[in-house]
Amino acid sequence: MNRAILSKHINGELIGKLKNDPKAFSSFLQNQNDGTIIYVLEKLGRLENGYSKEPLQNLLNHSNENIRALSIKNLAKIEDIILLPTFIKYASTDESTIVRREAVSAIGRLRNEKAIPTLINFLKDKDPKVVMQAIRGLLVFSYNSNVKNELKKLLNHPNELIREVINKEVNGVQYQSKSQQKHDEFPEFLKNTVVYGDVQEIIKYVPDESVHLTFTSPPYYNARDYSIYQSYDEYLNFLERVFKEVHRITKEGRFFVLNTSPIIIPRISRQHASKRYPIPYDIHPLLIKMGWEFIDDIVWVKPEASVKNRNAGFLQHRKPLAYKPNAVTEMLMVYRKKTDKLIDWNIRQYSWDKVKKSKVLEEYETTNVWRIDPTFDKVHTAVFPLELCNRVIKFYSFVGDLIFDPFAGSGTLGRAALNLNRNFFLTEKEGKYINRIKEELNKCGNLFNQVGQPKFVNLQEFIALTKVKI
Ligand SMILES: C[S@@+](CC[C@H](N)C(=O)[O-])C[C@H]1O[C@@H](n2cnc3c(N)ncnc32)[C@H](O)[C@@H]1O
Repeated sequence: MNRAILSKHINGELIGKLKNDPKAFSSFLQNQNDGTIIYVLEKLGRLENGYSKEPLQNLLNHSNENIRALSIKNLAKIEDIILLPTFIKYASTDESTIVRREAVSAIGRLRNEKAIPTLINFLKDKDPKVVMQAIRGLLVFSYNSNVKNELKKLLNHPNELIREVINKEVNGVQYQSKSQQKHDEFPEFLKNTVVYGDVQEIIKYVPDESVHLTFTSPPYYNARDYSIYQSYDEYLNFLERVFKEVHRITKEGRFFVLNTSPIIIPRISRQHASKRYPIPYDIHPLLIKMGWEFIDDIVWVKPEASVKNRNAGFLQHRKPLAYKPNAVTEMLMVYRKKTDKLIDWNIRQYSWDKVKKSKVLEEYETTNVWRIDPTFDKVHTAVFPLELCNRVIKFYSFVGDLIFDPFAGSGTLGRAALNLNRNFFLTEKEGKYINRIKEELNKCGNLFNQVGQPKFVNLQEFIALTKVKI
């Protein structure tokens, strides 16, 4: 029976009756298949009165591990210390790790000091999820110095999530803000500013924790004509340096969305092979190391007709190993500046009114596959489609925020930011693209009347701006 049919047969009224009548519950369970039992166990709801204790205990030897786990989960709701030995037995001996985790969680839910020695024992378990449940149970007693000492021993645990929890909960390690400014504010001199020059030079003059969101598409190694690096390593080092600075100037818990894709460097002659470079995969570990937390990978899909055809050879000969798919995707890797705070904290830094104005109320893409046509530009070979910028800005910033693109190109991100009532800060090292940015932003002419004219400055002028007090 599927769940829709089950929900008709087993309604709230029946469940209410069963959980208050142990005999009826036991005999009901005897005649049901696994699916129905699981459905009932998931729907039991609150169980403080303990009438279901016996029927649930009878299920603890069931052959189905999900039924055993759900029975323990429900028994835990009764919060009866008499059940401690039962939970210990299943936590220690059940062959299924989901049952063991549920049993350790149940021991924690008893919130009883008698459970402390058992929970401490489970801190040595091989399954990190069991250890995590034991930690959860023990954190209630962290005022107890013995418990605290035992938890501290996990500071060097091999599992990264366990180390993180212990650091935060026991060691009290917290994000240390270096900024005096409120979270929703930013230095005035960065507002709607375009700086002509090398981002590596410019960014040094940007104060810590100034920007709310960075969305960028860096040069694609040597795949296009505008950047020449001696080697792929030099290229990756360059990006690493820039993105470390982007991390420094990003506000606590805010986002960095990086658009890249693997590239191809064509072969130099028929005797040689072309070479593919997996840029997003090579940058990713560098970003994690410098303190970005990976959040999502969004795949931007373009129509096949818009990308270079790599199929001609294979289409003719159909020989294995020489298959070359047309690359219709680019990656948008989404990162967050690491903090111990939850996203809710970031949202709470804004006024009710700003949050309301920033809500994404229209229809939106619910998957991580974004089908967007590329934009072709007469001056720049790799511009962002406006729609791509619009989505990133709406999903990852609030109105009034400062949005940064270190590799601005034609400045599409700036235009999108203005249209969406955000502010931009752009850097670009090619003069011809700076002129293109001016053209782009002119398209927003009347918007500027409301927000003030954009500033176009070179490095020296920018340095002068930084000295005018914020
Ligand atoms: C892929 S394009 C970005 C295109 C842009 N997203 C748009 O919508 O037009 C990369 C840009 O980075 C610029 N660039 C490369 N190295 C730079 C550097 N060191 N400092 C500033 N800009 C740089 C290039 O001139 C190029 O315009």
